[in-house]
Amino acid sequence: MRQTLCARCRPLAGLTRRQVIRPATQQQRRNESTISSDVSTDEQGEVTKKRKPNVIFSGIQPTGVPHLGNYLGALRQWRKLQDDAEPEDRLLFSVVDLHAITMPQDAKVLRLRRREMLAALLAIGLDPEKGSTIFFQSSVPQHTELMWILSCTASMGYLGRMTQWKSKIQMNNKAGDLEDAAMTNLKLGLFSYPVLQAADILVHRATHVPVGDDQRQHLEFARECATNFNHTFKNILVPPETMTTPSPRIMSLTHPDSKMSKSTPNHRSRIIITAPPNEIRSRIMSAVTDSHNGVTYDPEMRPGVANLLELLSQCNNAQESRPLAPDELARQLSGASLKDLKELVAEAVCIELRGVRDRHDEFLNRKGGKWLDEIEAEGAEVARRNAEETMRMVRDAVGLGPGARLI
Ligand code: TYM
Repeated sequence: MRQTLCARCRPLAGLTRRQVIRPATQQQRRNESTISSDVSTDEQGEVTKKRKPNVIFSGIQPTGVPHLGNYLGALRQWRKLQDDAEPEDRLLFSVVDLHAITMPQDAKVLRLRRREMLAALLAIGLDPEKGSTIFFQSSVPQHTELMWILSCTASMGYLGRMTQWKSKIQMNNKAGDLEDAAMTNLKLGLFSYPVLQAADILVHRATHVPVGDDQRQHLEFARECATNFNHTFKNILVPPETMTTPSPRIMSLTHPDSKMSKSTPNHRSRIIITAPPNEIRSRIMSAVTDSHNGVTYDPEMRPGVANLLELLSQCNNAQESRPLAPDELARQLSGASLKDLKELVAEAVCIELRGVRDRHDEFLNRKGGKWLDEIEAEGAEVARRNAEETMRMVRDAVGLGPGARLI
């Protein structure tokens, strides 16, 4: 029997079970969402759909034009959620510029990067006319206000165990003991980064947060912040659910054991979403694989080939009603060479990103740059109003607002 998918399930329709449920701990799985609807029956016994509105929030740092990992791991999912949303849903997407300054930034470059990111989000199809609110994090001061309040109940021990922080400690402290000099180089903003991320989500009462694999731990921490706050003060904050994306971890093209990342110095390790077709082709054709010239899917032993198959699986679905999983593709391509595989991947990625570059350039320059300012100002206004609703309740609960009048 054909099952009709509710709007909450539709974003995940067509994905294989492997794509929806990635290896994760049981606790993570409990908190991961496949967006389901509440179904009930009316007086005549007819099944009716009673559906709470979804509030979807996610963010991206303005560290240059996004790459294919950002796009397949997050942005494409954001667009799909937007396109499948019901009118009562809310969608908020933020260029998280305050997170960006946890690392040293040149002011002029940061200003440019924020605009480029805004243009990139619009170029991939996020659209205020379709209900997406897009804004700079720094335009909504309620994010930092809630961050401070959450900091007062957040555990230092938990923050100290965050993978991102631990990797920074290792980078600054090769000897392995925390000397004064190493600690001086580490900044408080970097340590409390996850508290600001929790505030981003909680201040908008987000129910679902679509992110790539590397953000799972931050999302767990956000739930912990909500629970701590609710327990200490009043049940106001909404613990958000992590939304798994179809491709939560796209790997580097030069070091397929590590994820594709904006911070890696080697540009050949990634493809930015505004890359021209000749650059896309050259990066894919020179992607690191291995010495065996055949196509098999084995992420452990052949991570480079597995990553190419993953890219093909994700970008090849325009013609397919259901995207073929990487292992199925490997079986179909069993007689092919790695060169054949790379050519297919290059073609599929070029098709997937067609038009993004032109739209990005056009949006950056539309109305002499003013159009982007207008879009951001409108988004920030909506986001401020939404966040202020939460902050009024939060301030009251903590004792910082007027509270209920006694007389
Ligand atoms: P950021 O800017 O590093 O990345 C933005 C999104 O892209 C995903 N991503 C990837 N997905 C698959 N494969 C990859 N190689 C890959 N690289 C990046 C990330 O998982 C992310 O979803 N801390 C966040 C930004 C943030 C945020 C938030 C996110 C701030 N506040 C609140 C969600 C909710 C970050 O640095 O993402």
